[in-house]
Amino acid sequence: MGRVEKESEGKSFFEKVWTLVLHRGFIIPTAEIYGGIAGIYDFGPLGTLLAKKLVDLWRRFFVIGETNFPVYEINGSTILPYEVLVASGHVDSFVDPIVTCLKCKARMRADHLVEEALEIRVEGATVEELTRIIRENGLRCPNCGGDLSEVSLFNLMFKTEVGPLGGKTAFLRPETAQVIFIDFKKVFQVMRGKLPFGIAQIGKAYRNEISPRQGLIRLREFTQMEIEVFINPKEVNNHPGIEEVADSKFRILMRENQLKGGGAVEVTVREAVEKGIVPNAYMAYYLSKETEFFERIGIPRSKFYFRHMMPEETPFYSGGNFDLEVELSIGVKEVVGNAYRTDYDLRSHMKHSGEDLSVDVDGEKVVPEVVEPSFGVERIIYCILEHCYREDDGRGWSWFQFPPEIAPVTALILPLMKKEPLVSKAKELFKAARRSGIFVEYDDRGSIGKRYARADEIGVPVCVTVDYQTINDGTVTLRSRDTRKQVRVKAELVPKLLLDLSEGRMSLSDLEALQG
Ligand code: ATP
Ligand code: GLY
Repeated sequence: MGRVEKESEGKSFFEKVWTLVLHRGFIIPTAEIYGGIAGIYDFGPLGTLLAKKLVDLWRRFFVIGETNFPVYEINGSTILPYEVLVASGHVDSFVDPIVTCLKCKARMRADHLVEEALEIRVEGATVEELTRIIRENGLRCPNCGGDLSEVSLFNLMFKTEVGPLGGKTAFLRPETAQVIFIDFKKVFQVMRGKLPFGIAQIGKAYRNEISPRQGLIRLREFTQMEIEVFINPKEVNNHPGIEEVADSKFRILMRENQLKGGGAVEVTVREAVEKGIVPNAYMAYYLSKETEFFERIGIPRSKFYFRHMMPEETPFYSGGNFDLEVELSIGVKEVVGNAYRTDYDLRSHMKHSGEDLSVDVDGEKVVPEVVEPSFGVERIIYCILEHCYREDDGRGWSWFQFPPEIAPVTALILPLMKKEPLVSKAKELFKAARRSGIFVEYDDRGSIGKRYARADEIGVPVCVTVDYQTINDGTVTLRSRDTRKQVRVKAELVPKLLLDLSEGRMSLSDLEALQG
């Protein structure tokens, strides 16, 4: 039994995964040596590599790979002036209900407290309703049993001042989207845009969450990957690429099924648009693309679906919100929010800034409507970690079955023994792979079995072993992580094979099928 496995005996699935994640330093609690800070984490080397691979793949899928209309990426500031967040509605309405324990002073999300204690959904309930439910059901502090205060509202934005000694009030951005709206007209002009036109952004967002918890799920600093697609309001059902995906399927949990307690159903893009299951063709397009993307990063199709948010959970201006929810051991979690934001944000910024943000369409001034897919990097990473975590397949240690495209380390290169000429030959191969831009590691410490185990534990898809036969005939062994099957190939083919594997042109089963 492996070291990590012993440490994780008797733990919940979440704890097992989280133990391995912390043990191998994918994630490091921020300021750990000072006791940490709730809801804020650093990515260690393996977490950084995993996040980078995920973000690169997302970019390849949703930005570079979008050939039906232009999508440009920008990289905006994380500090925004007060006025921007007034216009967006965040100053007034970016609030969560909070309740305080009168005895131990712990502060909690009132809606979460009620939902967990009574197993009911109360999203959208007012503070008065929540206070009443707490009182009527005699709910008490889950930490110490103390009495609870009345419920009030807490604004989640981090406030700051720009400039010395009482400078201008500003906020750390609570979503990357607002930068896109305020830059829209400029980006549209400089890129000689025409509708539909997408602007993407990958970057940090900040929310002073009342009770951060469950590792990477509820953070105070996190990363979003967002796209705002600006569309001519008359053309929302005229997506230029809809035919490409018309027969693709996605799973959707409709409103009526939520009321009846039913499950998600599978629909095609065509059906979803024709039957009005989604508000427009752009929404259907993204739900099908996201389905493809999530399968590609290792989340089985049966484990996620899009939930049509109920009216009380949907902002008043929205034409429909669809959350991608993933089944996890800690419950079902939203990891992508898809929103039909209509023209609300642009119109609001026009009103507050006095600038005209409309664009010219055939001589007519048009304020575009917006469809927005909003992905959270850390939540997705947690989903990948849980869904790729493996144990109990007889190998004696836990491991991650990351798809090779997103595996932090693509291969481990190792000499069979720490002896010449095996070491020099393995190092030569390591350098050749690194020079080809593939992240491989070299390891000559410990027995070969231990080295394979350490590689499996962090999800390395292939181990490349240099042995005495390599010296005679120039071949090396490739050990597949998934089946532990080994094949021999010419050493000079290795960089190309690893590149194909890490860029998704080859699978591990293709590699296992190689001969000589
Ligand atoms: P929740 O209801 O769980 O608080 P939300 O509805 O506020 O989430 P959105 O505002 O739709 O989330 O944000 C878009 C995406 O950003 C989410 O799907 C999620 O992946 C990510 N995200 C939002 N808040 C957090 C957070 N506190 N920590 C980590 N990721 C987050
Ligand atoms: N931009 C969507 C959100 O963060 O809520």
